[in-house]
Amino acid sequence: MSSIRDIRTDYTKGTLSPGDLSDCPGDQLRLWIEEADKCGIVDANAFTLSTMSTAGYPSGRVVLAREVDANGVVFYTNKQSAKGGELSGLSKAGATFFWSALQRQVRLTGKVIEISDEESDRYFASRPRASQIGAHASDQSREISSREELELKLSNLEAQFDGVDKIPRPKHWGGFRISLEEVEFWQGRASRLHDRVKYIKVGEGWKKVILQP
Ligand SMILES: Cc1cc2nc3c(=O)[nH]c(=O)nc-3n(C[C@H](O)[C@H](O)[C@H](O)COP(=O)(O)O)c2cc1C
Repeated sequence: MSSIRDIRTDYTKGTLSPGDLSDCPGDQLRLWIEEADKCGIVDANAFTLSTMSTAGYPSGRVVLAREVDANGVVFYTNKQSAKGGELSGLSKAGATFFWSALQRQVRLTGKVIEISDEESDRYFASRPRASQIGAHASDQSREISSREELELKLSNLEAQFDGVDKIPRPKHWGGFRISLEEVEFWQGRASRLHDRVKYIKVGEGWKKVILQP
């Protein structure tokens, strides 16, 4: 078996320069997610969401982007979860996308706001029924004594919602939007001399700068 220190890839799949990228980083990010999806990458919309505790400890976990445009990146979660608590304390976050098969990474930072109840309702209504009931069952990030206890909560809720056509959205479940403050696109290159292009806000628009690898 080879050791971890021997795992090594030379990145040769593509190149990146400012002229290749859209004037809007949100549009460019959506394009890269769509390209990753078309390439057959599973969960091409998955990203690591980074938040910060009041004690200053950063914390990351993977979530799924559900909207990506000039206004930022929307994801959905339980607002009473650990991440929800951190976002209500400090409404700033980081997001990091990585598509290994394309040798691409995007990282961004921004301010975080809750999206409207109407938007969350619309998205919740589009989810599979089992996921809707699951959102009621899970007090995300809280301890539970056993898997059986969770499954009991689930079967009680299934009975409660039996015959109910439209499962209501739990008030503590909904969407957050991360606005775009800084966005960096990264394409792996040979010998670790990667291409990096960062968008920096200038007035209402953006300028693109090249960063050293
Ligand atoms: C591929 C993938 C997608 C996920 N998508 C979400 C998501 O969209 N929303 C969410 O709340 N958790 C999602 N999770 C679970 C989170 O990573 C995390 O375990 C959970 O949100 C609890 O995080 P917290 O305790 O820091 O709040 C996903 C995990 C993976 C691996």
